[in-house]
Amino acid sequence: MHSLLRGKHFITDQEWTREELEMVFEVADELKRDFALGRPHRYLPDKTLFMIFFDNSTRTRNSFEAGMTQLGGHAHDLTPDKLQISHGENAKDTASVLSRYGHGIAVRHCAYREGNQYIRELAKYSRVPILNMQCDVYHPCQVMADLMTIRERFGKNTRGLKLTVAWTSAPNYVRPMSVPQSLVMLMPRFGIDVTLAAPKEFALMPETIAQARANAEEAGVKFEIVDDMEEGFQNADIVIPKSWGPLTVTTNKTEGIDLIKKYPGWKCDSRMMSIAKKHAIYMHPLPADRNYEVTDEVIDGPQSVVYDEAENRLHVQKALMALTMGGRG
Ligand code: CP
Repeated sequence: MHSLLRGKHFITDQEWTREELEMVFEVADELKRDFALGRPHRYLPDKTLFMIFFDNSTRTRNSFEAGMTQLGGHAHDLTPDKLQISHGENAKDTASVLSRYGHGIAVRHCAYREGNQYIRELAKYSRVPILNMQCDVYHPCQVMADLMTIRERFGKNTRGLKLTVAWTSAPNYVRPMSVPQSLVMLMPRFGIDVTLAAPKEFALMPETIAQARANAEEAGVKFEIVDDMEEGFQNADIVIPKSWGPLTVTTNKTEGIDLIKKYPGWKCDSRMMSIAKKHAIYMHPLPADRNYEVTDEVIDGPQSVVYDEAENRLHVQKALMALTMGGRG
């Protein structure tokens, strides 16, 4: 198995081969065992990760920072206002300078049609790996943790499973589209049939749908889009109902919230779960807007694996950091 990953950017899992992603899962499983046993695994001693958050975070911030500590290194928790980014310093200067000081740069920047471009610009000038902590297009660490969780539940051979990504109505704020986009692109590569269920105004970026279709075709699996949540849940082994904004239709916040409020019935409750297979698991990347997106009964119920999913962020990201910031060149 190919293991020469030192220095490789992780902007999207789409740019990593399946074999490379398998290596991440192998290492993540091992690091999870080490963590459970209290066995030291200091693969990045004295190394530094710069984390730049343009947007809020609970899981990503804390799993990356805790992960760096556990690997023997240190993470700087940065926001644009702590840096000269807030005074207009460009990506070239930021990346060039931080590359001189440390061993990796991780970025969250979800602004629509800006975030990914900024991360790509950093990558152009960085001498150290760039890790995408979520942008407007991709959330690769999240979906790798999701797939790790699915493999734990169903086994490593995931071919033949049906996964449904369903939109839900969460009117408290407009969320990025990066989670559903990364899900529909990644899962077919691992033999999983994917259904995307959403009202028409919540269509994803056309280029990500085209990539999802191409991945499904190459893997010989199904990828379908429906506009009915119940139809989407039929025969599903895995359901991931979560909200996102109607960003391909409007980037105006008020218009976006009005469209989200138009579909209050798009909620995951126990009746909806009964439409999926009996053994189906409920997943959500969190934060969930309880009682809008999902009822407490479902998210706190026996089919929910949301905390395993959140925990696996730590293990997957430690694997990514160990392989790209340490490992072999
Ligand atoms: N799922 C996720 O990325 O959570 P945070 O926004 O809290 O980092």
